[in-house]
Amino acid sequence: MSDHELRVSKIRNGTVIDHVEGGQALNVLAILGIDGSEGFGVSIGMNVPSDRLGHKDVVKVEGRELSASEVDVLSLIAPEATINIIREFEVAEKNRVTRPENVRGVLSCPNHNCITNADEPVDTRFDVVSDGVRCDYCSTIIRENLAEHIDV
Ligand code: CTP
Ligand code: ZN
Repeated sequence: MSDHELRVSKIRNGTVIDHVEGGQALNVLAILGIDGSEGFGVSIGMNVPSDRLGHKDVVKVEGRELSASEVDVLSLIAPEATINIIREFEVAEKNRVTRPENVRGVLSCPNHNCITNADEPVDTRFDVVSDGVRCDYCSTIIRENLAEHIDV
């Protein structure tokens, strides 16, 4: 994208989550547990033009890198996403997300009787299956609105 089309400023240090499916930017923030109260800079572009996707969302988080489990959950709602690590204004690393076999400790199980929701809960673990994610403990499948099951 040429500079005169740039809608969201470049950042100095942090992470740019690019090529997010249009409409998913706020869910990306939910997965990262970001609501703006943390104090670091966050910029969001929604439905910006993209050569590859037509339209895309972009999320730029300053001064924060992502954990592997956050990237795993991101890949489920934004399978085309690119994670760019920015250091001193340069793209230091660029990685496409890949679909994980399982996700641990980020989603919560909707089954209230699940051991992961007990008084002394165990960490959640979901297997990624063709129609969603399946709780390893009780086999409940979350099929849609994954972002509503994020445990922050
Ligand atoms: N970016 C940023 N701040 C920087 C450097 C890059 O916000 N200091 C953003 C760019 O705006 C872009 C993303 O990080 O959204 C990736 O940057 P770059 O690799 O330079 O762009 P492209 O070549 O367009 O990326 P791709 O090939 O992944 O589409
Ligand atoms: Zn469960």
